[in-house]
Amino acid sequence: MQPRRLKKEISMCGIFAVVNDSGNQAAQTVMEGLKILEYRGYDSWGIALIDQKLKIKDKKFRKYIKKIIIEKHVGKIGKAKTVLPAGRTAIGHTRWATHGGVTARNAHPHLDCTGTLAVIHNGIIENYRELKQDLAIKGHKFVSETDSEIAAHLIEQELKNKDIKKAVFSAFDKLKGLNAIVALDANSNTIVGCRYGSPLAVGLNQNEYFLASDAIAFANRAKKVIYLKDRQAVVMTSKSIKLYDLDKKKLVKPEIKELNLKKQDADKSGYRHFYLKEAMQEPGIIKNISEKPDKNIQKLAKVIKQAEKTIFFGCGSAYFCSLFAKYFFAEAGIDVQAFQAHEYEYFAKLADKNTLGIAISQSGETADTLLAAKALKAKKAELAGILNAKFSSLERLSDIVINVQAGPEIAVVSTKAFIAQLTYVYLLSRTVKGLYKKTCSDLALFAKNLNGFLKPAGMQKIKKLALKLADKQNIFVTGKNLNYPAGLEFALKLKEASYIHAEAFACGELKHGVISLIEQGTPCTVLADNLKYKADSLSSAEEVKARGGYIIGIAPFESEVFDYHVRVPDAGRLTCFANIIAGQMLAYFLSLVRGADPDKPRNLAKSVTVK
Ligand code: F6R
Repeated sequence: MQPRRLKKEISMCGIFAVVNDSGNQAAQTVMEGLKILEYRGYDSWGIALIDQKLKIKDKKFRKYIKKIIIEKHVGKIGKAKTVLPAGRTAIGHTRWATHGGVTARNAHPHLDCTGTLAVIHNGIIENYRELKQDLAIKGHKFVSETDSEIAAHLIEQELKNKDIKKAVFSAFDKLKGLNAIVALDANSNTIVGCRYGSPLAVGLNQNEYFLASDAIAFANRAKKVIYLKDRQAVVMTSKSIKLYDLDKKKLVKPEIKELNLKKQDADKSGYRHFYLKEAMQEPGIIKNISEKPDKNIQKLAKVIKQAEKTIFFGCGSAYFCSLFAKYFFAEAGIDVQAFQAHEYEYFAKLADKNTLGIAISQSGETADTLLAAKALKAKKAELAGILNAKFSSLERLSDIVINVQAGPEIAVVSTKAFIAQLTYVYLLSRTVKGLYKKTCSDLALFAKNLNGFLKPAGMQKIKKLALKLADKQNIFVTGKNLNYPAGLEFALKLKEASYIHAEAFACGELKHGVISLIEQGTPCTVLADNLKYKADSLSSAEEVKARGGYIIGIAPFESEVFDYHVRVPDAGRLTCFANIIAGQMLAYFLSLVRGADPDKPRNLAKSVTVK
């Protein structure tokens, strides 16, 4: 049995499988699925296919066995084509390396010793050393340095006295950690997938079945979906698909849902990158929220008013959104706290049944955020989730869920999901204050102005700025009040997409040390609005300028202190949203001029969760 407690997890990589491929091009279908899943990891990729023609006599088993053929490559899939032949059943994987370097040998799928069983894996097999030792004593030969290969040999071992279903279930039970495995057995023409921690979804299209880490990968092929819960398994053959509870060792009735994803959710819709497509969707997302917000907003606003203590938490951009909550709710007269989810464990002892925890997460699968959520639940606190992806682990854990309705976010760097989270946190804070309707109309107007800002003419100045900054090594970002968390998010975008070191500081902090870094020509981006702290922002810019800093103003007004100015829409407290979007676009153009990939920055993966 596996531990029920969330432990160290890395749950990236993309899994895709097909049974009964309708066009008899299973490898091609898997390849297309992997291209959509590449945001989950892009170190290497591979596909395994049951060869329908090749049957060889295996002396050991005294029977004819079907072979599996495999192709593996290092690097991104990009525009690659598969060399595998026609076939009806295949599995594939796109990897984010954890155990073992980025080599073709370490790429998945991994074969057992007989070459008739292939396995793909997400997660970390925490006890892989012990398992490997034991399997080696039993004569298994390993060809990779990965923990994942163990699963193939473990199943092979179990197959000596079990059928494929029981062998995979039994092997999966022996794996420690949070894992999803998918095994392809050529002899029985079966695919078995098991989930604990790492997501798996089944797509149904008549008698053609898919299995993937994210339903978006088969959105253009299947209309129905089954989301596997933790400790569930699926057995897919050419004749049937069955779902099992791994603890009760019983068949379970699958909850079949409509897959409401559109083809254009998974493609670039004519844009050069997902990043650009998703940033351009932002005005529409804000408009949609203003017209039809999630109905749970009123309910959550009420709970916030009643709670003794409210804690917002998340990681990365989602944490910055939590930090915004402090400012937004202070305006509404409510003192909320903001935590980086991975720092929360120590403070959980202070929570109780009168505490409300609000998890912010695009994926709903981030392990640190899940751990903090579980810590709060253990203290009987109420839990709300402000989430984007549906049917996630955080959604299942939350008492109240707000779906931010941003649609699938494919680019690894978060743009539209962050803006949607921010819109909800802002709207929530205003709803608490009784300003729900007014705020919806403010947001609608803002969305309109933003549309104008994102037009090509509006982007010209940001493009030119990217050219000016292309060879800089450091960029500083300053802001006060709402423009401080905005600056943090701005700087994170620059770091992720362009690899330039960018650091954000609250204006008031500069003189306490940071200003020593300013030299002649050091770029310093000042985020500002036309509200109360405009003068403070400008005077800290003057201090930087006096020391030789090159001042880039991101603001709805001109100023003599700015050496370069990007004008954003003047939208009161919502100006900080526009300032962040200017940062997203600057990061995008910088990424292009520096030859990086804005959709898949190095070393990152979407839903990357490391405790
Ligand atoms: C930044 C980014 C990350 C995520 C963070 C949390 O562009 O994408 O910082 O915000 O990893 O991820 P979720 O929101 O899925 O919990």
